[in-house]
Amino acid sequence: RIPAVKVLGVCLALAFSSAALADQPIIVKFSHVVAENTPKGQGALKFKELAEAALPGKVEVQVFSNSQLFGDGKEMEALLLGDVQIIAPSLAKFDRYTKQLQIFDLPFMFDDMDALDRFQSSPAGQELLDSMKSKGIKGLAYWHNGLKQMSTNKDTLVRPEDIKGLKFRIQSSDVLEAQFRQLGANPQKLAFSEVYQALQTGVVDGAENPWSNIYSQKLHEVQKTIAVTNHGALDYMVITNSGWWDGLPEDIRAGLQKAMAGATEHANKLAAEINDRDRQRIADAGKAKIQTLSKRDIAAWREAVRPVWAKFSGQIGEDLIAKARASNA
Ligand code: LMR
Repeated sequence: RIPAVKVLGVCLALAFSSAALADQPIIVKFSHVVAENTPKGQGALKFKELAEAALPGKVEVQVFSNSQLFGDGKEMEALLLGDVQIIAPSLAKFDRYTKQLQIFDLPFMFDDMDALDRFQSSPAGQELLDSMKSKGIKGLAYWHNGLKQMSTNKDTLVRPEDIKGLKFRIQSSDVLEAQFRQLGANPQKLAFSEVYQALQTGVVDGAENPWSNIYSQKLHEVQKTIAVTNHGALDYMVITNSGWWDGLPEDIRAGLQKAMAGATEHANKLAAEINDRDRQRIADAGKAKIQTLSKRDIAAWREAVRPVWAKFSGQIGEDLIAKARASNA
């Protein structure tokens, strides 16, 4: 027979350990692939600050930058497996989960970041946050980075024909693949963490990136020319695992939602500033030449990639394309 005092001891120990467990903060891992001094890097840190301030002792947000926890090949899987709770992939990286988000990759879709912001905030844009619901993915917010610039290891980069035959690193997007094929170049899908080395060693000749990614990855040190093409946007969807999110206690979910709204405002305000700052830093570094383009040159790029729209309009939906175009007004 087990003495009563022993039983009591075990009961007390169990009670204490479950009380201790109940007091443990919920760990929220937020993993991303860029540097901390970028719009996404800053947004993630702001989310940590706001979430932990709003839910003291209840949540701990752990931010992992620079692909140190998961690179972009693995982060979606990790999210679905519950190994990470929040990620913010570029809108170009959702091909496998929904075709609708391809709208954001169509070349020259948005005239500027304000137009993109208007579309994301519109009912159609907000609905897209739920476009991967059936896959267990919930969109929490859009975060801005900036417009992409074309860069190569050549001295001349003015007209679309200047990139014919060159190899380009692209994100894992079928639209971006079609864009470069349309221009007679050879696109190659590579993880973000591999871009610097691929450019440095000549595995690829060029890439397309916003200023903040070029600067923070030092890509201007391994490219000769960066043309100010502004031919597409690089923005993010902050996503979570919907099973995990829906299973959170009500007060925690509400607190995280509020922290996300604050972080979104912060990151989106900073994005333009950071990209302007980094363009200037690249100019000051004097390594790659920044090639400005005339209206006529830009029109030539626009014309050259126009057929890409028709290729994807069936998958994306004409209706959605019309709504996105309307945001340029
Ligand atoms: C890229 O792969 O070029 C970008 O999506 C990286 C990022 O997250 O900004």
